[in-house]
Amino acid sequence: MVKVADLPSFDMAESLKTEEDIVMYLNMVLEENDPAELAHALGVIAKARGMTQIAKEAGIGRIHEVSHLDLQIQIQEAATKKKLAQLGSIQLSPDLIPVTFLKQSMLRAIKNSKAEDFLYSDRQGHILLREALSAHWAEDGFYILPESIYISNGCMPALSVIVQQLTQVGDSIIVPTPCYNGQLQLLALLKRKIVEVPAHTEGFDLERLEQAMQHSGAKVCLLTANYQNPLGFCLTNKDKEKIAQLAAKYQCYVIEDDIYAECCFDNLRPLPIKYWDEDGYVIYCGSISKTVSPAYRIGWFCTPSRLINLHAKLITQNINVNTPLQLGLADLIYSRAYRQHLNNLRPRLWAQVEEYRYFIAEAFKDISFGLTNPQGGYILWLQFPQQIDSWEMYCFAQQQEINIVPGLVFGAGNRYNNCIRINAGHLLSDEVRQAIHLLADWARHQLKS
Ligand SMILES: Cc1ncc(COP(=O)(O)O)c(C=O)c1O
Repeated sequence: MVKVADLPSFDMAESLKTEEDIVMYLNMVLEENDPAELAHALGVIAKARGMTQIAKEAGIGRIHEVSHLDLQIQIQEAATKKKLAQLGSIQLSPDLIPVTFLKQSMLRAIKNSKAEDFLYSDRQGHILLREALSAHWAEDGFYILPESIYISNGCMPALSVIVQQLTQVGDSIIVPTPCYNGQLQLLALLKRKIVEVPAHTEGFDLERLEQAMQHSGAKVCLLTANYQNPLGFCLTNKDKEKIAQLAAKYQCYVIEDDIYAECCFDNLRPLPIKYWDEDGYVIYCGSISKTVSPAYRIGWFCTPSRLINLHAKLITQNINVNTPLQLGLADLIYSRAYRQHLNNLRPRLWAQVEEYRYFIAEAFKDISFGLTNPQGGYILWLQFPQQIDSWEMYCFAQQQEINIVPGLVFGAGNRYNNCIRINAGHLLSDEVRQAIHLLADWARHQLKS
C-alpha cells in the first residue's frame, strides 16, 4: 500500500533541484504563452533558488481582475445539491454536528429570554453573545473586547461588509492564492481587483507579501492564517507576528478569515494574527459554520479601535442577526457545550481526514500526484500531472453525481487547473469511496489517452 508520508509533495519548487530542471520548467511554461502561468512559475523558481529577487525583477504582484466568475457561481450552486456525493462544499456531516446540544441550548435560551429580547435588538449583536465569544476566545489565549465584536449572518457577510467599508470599486486587494473560491467570487462581484501572492503547503513568502504591500498600491489584504482553504497550511506564530507588523508598517489592513482555527486536530487552537495586532490593522472575522452549523448563519467581525469612525456605517450595512439564534449560541458557549463539542470533534476530524488521505492515496496509487496533509480543518487539495484538466474532471464528476471543486476557481488564470479540492467533512461512506474510485479511474484513463 502507498504510504501517505511517501506521497510526492506537490510543491513544484521542491522538485526543481538543479539549474537544468529550472530551465526545462521555464521553457515548458514559456511555451504555454500564459502570463499568469509565467508569473506563477517565476514564483516557484524564486522559491526553489531561495531568491525572491527574481519576483521583484519580473514584476509579480500585478493587479488582476478575478477570472471565472460565471464558473464560480455555477460551482458554488452545485456544491450544495444534496443528491451529489458531498465532496464539494466544505461542511461537516450531520453526525458531527452537535444537534442535541443545539436543541437544548435553543430551548434554554428561549426559556431564559427577556421580553425585550423579542424586540429589535442591538444592531451590533446581542451583548450576551458578544460577551460569550470574548470569554471563549480569552480561554484560548487571545482577547477581543465585546465592544469590538459585530455579529453577522456568517463569515462571508462579515467579509463583504468589511471589504466594502475599507475599499472602493476598482481598488485592489492582496490575496495569497490559491484561496477560497467564495472570497474571489465576492471580490469579483464587488468589482475589486486582486494582487496575488503565491501560496504553498507551508504558507506563503512574507517577502512577497511585503513587496505587494509596498508596491501594489493595495491597502487591504485578505487571508487565512490557520488551516487555509484550500491548502490547509497553518502559519507559524513568527509569521503571524510578522504579518501584523507588516500591516502596521505599510498601513495595509489585514482582513483575517479565521473560520477553521477551531478545527485543529489537537486541543491547542492556533492563535490568530489578531493576537499580535498591537497597532490595530487586523480585522478578525469568522463564524460557527465550520465547527457547529452552517445553517445557523452566525459569524462575526471584530474591528480595531482605529476604525471606530466606521461604527455607524458598519451597523447600517451589517444586516441584523436573528436574536433567538444569537441567544442559543450564547447559551451553547456559557453552558460549556460548545467547548465539549470541540473537544469531541477534534480527534474525530483528525481520524476522518487521515482515513480520507489513506483512501485517496490508495485509490490514486499508480498516478503521480500530491495530496495535502493538514493539521486542522477538513479540506484536501490534490495536485495531478498537468495533463489532468480538473474542469473536465469536474464535468465528469457532475455526470456521476459527485461534487468536487476544480482548481481553476481558486486563483486567477488557469494556474490550478490540474488541482481539485475535496471536502473530508462527511463520513467516508461506501458512496464516497465509490465516488473517489470513479475519479481515480477517470484520471487513469485520461493519462493513458
Ligand atoms: C475560508 C472561508 N471563509 C468563509 C467561508 C464561508 O463562511 P460562512 O458560511 O460562515 O459564510 C468558507 C466556507 O467554505 C471558507 O472556507
